[in-house]
Amino acid sequence: MRVVVFSTKSYDRDTLTRCNAAGHGHDLVFQEPRLTSETSPLADGFPVVCGFVNDVFDASVLERLAGHGTRLVALRAAGFNNVDLRAAARLGIAVTRVPAYSPHAVAEFTVGLILSLARSIHRAYARTRNNNFSLEGLLGFDLHGRTVGVVGTGRIGALVARTMAAGFGCRVLAHDVRQDPELAGSGVAYVALPQLIAKSDVLTLHCPLTPATRHLVCDGTIATMKRGALLVNTSRGALIDAEAVVEGLKAGQLGGLAMDVYEQEADLFFEDLSDEIVHDDTLQRLLMFPNVLVTSHQAFFTQEALTAIAETTLSSITAFARGEKLESAVTQALIQPPPT
Ligand code: NAI
Repeated sequence: MRVVVFSTKSYDRDTLTRCNAAGHGHDLVFQEPRLTSETSPLADGFPVVCGFVNDVFDASVLERLAGHGTRLVALRAAGFNNVDLRAAARLGIAVTRVPAYSPHAVAEFTVGLILSLARSIHRAYARTRNNNFSLEGLLGFDLHGRTVGVVGTGRIGALVARTMAAGFGCRVLAHDVRQDPELAGSGVAYVALPQLIAKSDVLTLHCPLTPATRHLVCDGTIATMKRGALLVNTSRGALIDAEAVVEGLKAGQLGGLAMDVYEQEADLFFEDLSDEIVHDDTLQRLLMFPNVLVTSHQAFFTQEALTAIAETTLSSITAFARGEKLESAVTQALIQPPPT
């Protein structure tokens, strides 16, 4: 199949090329830019468009793709909030994703962020490189015995919950629209969201971005959090209202923030902008706080995950080419609320 692959960096091209040569044999054309309405002509004539987290598959882009022969959108990601699924269905474009490539990659990174925030490891690293060996301002707290709130206990959230409970001796509260009975039986207590927010010393987000979860953390949420609680987001940027978080940090109501995703990340993350003026005042303000740790959508980035992403994506394309059932198809049902 002829496949145009958007938002590619050297590591994507290397992994996809290696996996493709090992058993798929598709005709892959790599593009560095992300897919937007401006770059969509690069996809003209390709039956398959392969995209990543910040590629835009809104109705107008999908209409253009469909009009120029695209029949499959193959996402190299688990989240699919960047695709208008209704438009895709209407236009007869199938959408696949990589539902589970390495939940361990994201869960382990999340635990790393929690540890770094709780003990100011990110600050210590920067200080000692400047020969500042003082401990002033680095006082942390034991995670053992603290309460960690996990919102979304799917593949990643469940791993984080288990690690914090069994590995650190934390009390773990969880909230999900579908409870995991096995997790509930392993020392994790499911509670209503307001209770989780009010009781947690660390709040970590692992639910998908949907209309129901957009700005789940906003002014009102922050006001009801424990004073000084830490907030960690490795899921999707728009789960938090970043401007409200700035105010929460300024007031000391939030004790720290670690974020691997940012609502306005599309034009920033994955690029080296160190020689440029970044015009995002909210992000620039966040980067000024000593108790804020920002990484640029890096949680997935392990050798294992990259290989699994390439394998699943190419297998979906191969299945599509053969007219087989698409195991990792994204359907509207995935974002419907569960039966009550
Ligand atoms: P998953 O689908 O296994 O789990 C998501 C869980 O969230 C499910 O249990 C679901 O029932 C729950 N949920 C849905 N709506 C909810 C709501 N309103 N309130 C509470 N819970 C709700 O997904 P997985 O693999 O655990 O991934 C979680 C998220 O992590 C993805 O949606 C994706 O956005 C993000 N992600 C981030 C990566 C990164 O590199 N930073 C890499 C991979 C995923």
